[in-house]
Amino acid sequence: MPTGRRRTAIPGTDLSVHPFCLGTGPFGDAIPEERAFDLLDRFRATGGNFVDTANVYGRWLPAGENVGEAILGRYLRARRASLGEDPLVIATKGAHPALSDMGRPRMRPADLRQDLEDSLRTLGLERIDFYWLHRDAPSLPADAILEPLERFREEGKVRWIGCSNWRASRVAEARDAARKAGVPGFCAVQDRWSLAALNPGASPDPTLVAMDDDLYALHLETGLAAIPYSAQAGGYFAKRARDPATDPAADPAAMPRHLQAAHDNPLNDRRLHRLLEMARTLDTTVSRLSLAFLLAQPFPTIPIVGPRTPAQLADLDAALDLVLSDGDRDRLAAGRRF
Ligand SMILES: NC(=O)c1ccc[n+]([C@@H]2O[C@H](COP(=O)([O-])OP(=O)(O)OC[C@H]3O[C@@H](n4cnc5c(N)ncnc54)[C@H](OP(=O)(O)O)[C@@H]3O)[C@@H](O)[C@H]2O)c1
Repeated sequence: MPTGRRRTAIPGTDLSVHPFCLGTGPFGDAIPEERAFDLLDRFRATGGNFVDTANVYGRWLPAGENVGEAILGRYLRARRASLGEDPLVIATKGAHPALSDMGRPRMRPADLRQDLEDSLRTLGLERIDFYWLHRDAPSLPADAILEPLERFREEGKVRWIGCSNWRASRVAEARDAARKAGVPGFCAVQDRWSLAALNPGASPDPTLVAMDDDLYALHLETGLAAIPYSAQAGGYFAKRARDPATDPAADPAAMPRHLQAAHDNPLNDRRLHRLLEMARTLDTTVSRLSLAFLLAQPFPTIPIVGPRTPAQLADLDAALDLVLSDGDRDRLAAGRRF
């Protein structure tokens, strides 16, 4: 089987998806519509079938609309004929707080209903394959949050559900609630995770949640799938690995400030050193290795990636050909602080 056609099962669902999920956060913003269509076509040509969007994507632009979903919806309509033979697995997210009031969760059943109906209409779908809650509302009991989502499943508007930016204790609470109610509940967690250790307090948004010891232990114990975002840390290691002799962008001053703030630390210096050594030995690149690291986890892990160019997209296929041993994976994670 060509590597691009590989599939990963998401436990607890009937979904079988490409090992990478294509992120669409910049569609309509840093990635204009024509390039978005081209990236989607290329992703599908290599066997890609799993796409992540959100009702909030693009709402930060002056029009305040869900531009990301609108572009994906136009793509699905434009490619209807070929998608009939090889459908995409569409994931979107609702329950994001209003961008002007990030501290106030939007988790009332009416908020969830409004976001879901808007996403269905914009995407032109009768049903969402995988529906994520974009944030948690930690003061609400998990069973109260699951109830309306279960109703959406009964109505056939959503096939499977998951949570994004939830802490381990809350994921565990939701799993208990689902078991008691006899429903599938959350089938995956979408939190931030890459090989690049994250500096504490680096995120300007305190409602975002990253992989940590407790979450990792929960995935390990339960086999719950991780579908992490920012899985390449915005290309942090690839940017640091640039060679000043051949690449003018190798100037350390060219590293985006937010990536420096998030990831510059001695642990990542050591990881970069190890990545460069391994890349030389295996004749590959640090970005492919950092993706292979996530694919080598002992529980299902489907990284959400944000390639911006055809060359970056092509790297995904190359990363699939790299199979890290447990020893190499653990050497890369040494000193783990996520
Ligand atoms: N649930 C949530 O709260 C949440 C939050 C954030 C994102 N997401 C989802 O996750 C998706 C991906 O997030 P992300 O954009 O942060 O992911 P990412 O893949 O970590 O970062 C994307 C950036 O990495 C660089 N890059 C990509 N492929 C590369 C390659 N092969 N070699 C070197 N550099 C490469 C590019 O930087 P340059 O542009 O500088 O080349 C690109 O803009 C989003 O689109 C969205 O769907 C979800």
